[in-house]
Amino acid sequence: MSAVDVLFSPGRIGGLEIPNRIAMAPMTREFSHGGVPGPDVAAYYARRAAGGCGLIITEGMAVNAAGAHDGPIPLFYQPQTLAACRAIVDGVHRAGARIMPQLWHVGVQDSPTEVNPQTVKQRPPRVGPSGLLGTGEVGGEVLDERGIADTIADFARAAQAAREIGFDGIEIHGAHGYLPDQFLWSRTNRRRDGYGGDARERTRFVVELIRACKAAAGPDFPIVLRMSQWKSFDYAARLAETPSQLEAIFLPIAEAGVDAFHCSTRRFWEPAFAESDLTLAGWMRKITGSPTIAVGSVTLENDFKHDRSEATGGIAESAPRTRDVEAVASFIERGEFDMIAVGRAMIANPDWAALVRSRETHKLRSFRREQLAALD
Ligand SMILES: Cc1cc2nc3c(=O)[nH]c(=O)nc-3n(C[C@H](O)[C@H](O)[C@H](O)COP(=O)(O)O)c2cc1C
Repeated sequence: MSAVDVLFSPGRIGGLEIPNRIAMAPMTREFSHGGVPGPDVAAYYARRAAGGCGLIITEGMAVNAAGAHDGPIPLFYQPQTLAACRAIVDGVHRAGARIMPQLWHVGVQDSPTEVNPQTVKQRPPRVGPSGLLGTGEVGGEVLDERGIADTIADFARAAQAAREIGFDGIEIHGAHGYLPDQFLWSRTNRRRDGYGGDARERTRFVVELIRACKAAAGPDFPIVLRMSQWKSFDYAARLAETPSQLEAIFLPIAEAGVDAFHCSTRRFWEPAFAESDLTLAGWMRKITGSPTIAVGSVTLENDFKHDRSEATGGIAESAPRTRDVEAVASFIERGEFDMIAVGRAMIANPDWAALVRSRETHKLRSFRREQLAALD
């Protein structure tokens, strides 16, 4: 067995077996007009499943109107969207892969992508734990306790709907500065009630959210939580400065019922803290005992936000870098993390997993921004 074969050994999240260790990273594509993903979106995911990817994590799907990014993303709270998602699930299952929707609430943080004024929805005001952005500016209204309960109920309803439709689990978007992260981070959570305070107290929203999703969808329905240090508008931001701070935040969250953590970094191999080589996914696995998914620049020369500027539209192009395949395999082999998520390289290469499996990485295509203009 060569080192790369470990990528094609089965993975497990809770009770769910996944055919291999390769996940498609969640990527907002904005092709769901009216909030409803059409047959083109279903075919796009089915192509990645047919291309050998074991677990598809969909683009972020909004759990309610206040939390919906303003572009044409799937609005998971609409009945017609749920009906359309059945076709996505069926297509991916037919191709032999597993699929989870990413459940998304932006909180007070609007998305950095450009919004076509034609698509801006009439929606309620943005809401967050303290109404504040990481910069200290006001970004929206403060959620009161009733608002918190209603938001948690919206996530729970979405979890239940995901199960009914046939999804294999859910991923909750708790990363990049969106609503759950806004509760966890001291700069955006200044509350003095039971939802704010020290690191452990700031976890209450996420703990209740996970418990509510488990109660609604059933204890055996897998929940992945995506987390990160960085925020969409601040790559230097850190939720935890030390491993013990990371533990204070994520141990209670793991105990609430998370089945796996998806640890979002821009470069999968980088150590998370000084004085240790462990990556963020490595630390999270060590602290929580749960499986972890790593991500960031897999088979790409440039990270996701490399050289970000108005002119480049925020998302970096990149040539392929094939040596990453062995590096990822060796991390998995030594138990640093369990799965790897592939983002832009899987937009450029629907057959990414098949090419890796057949040792044809020299055929990997570069990621180009123009690929975002179509759903190939
Ligand atoms: C077009 C695009 C859209 C994205 N949308 C989301 C999203 O909806 N949810 C999310 O958690 N991350 C999103 N991301 C981040 C990716 O999931 C991934 O973490 C990032 O691209 C780094 O992986 P890569 O270097 O393999 O591309 C997006 C990335 C891209 C390129």
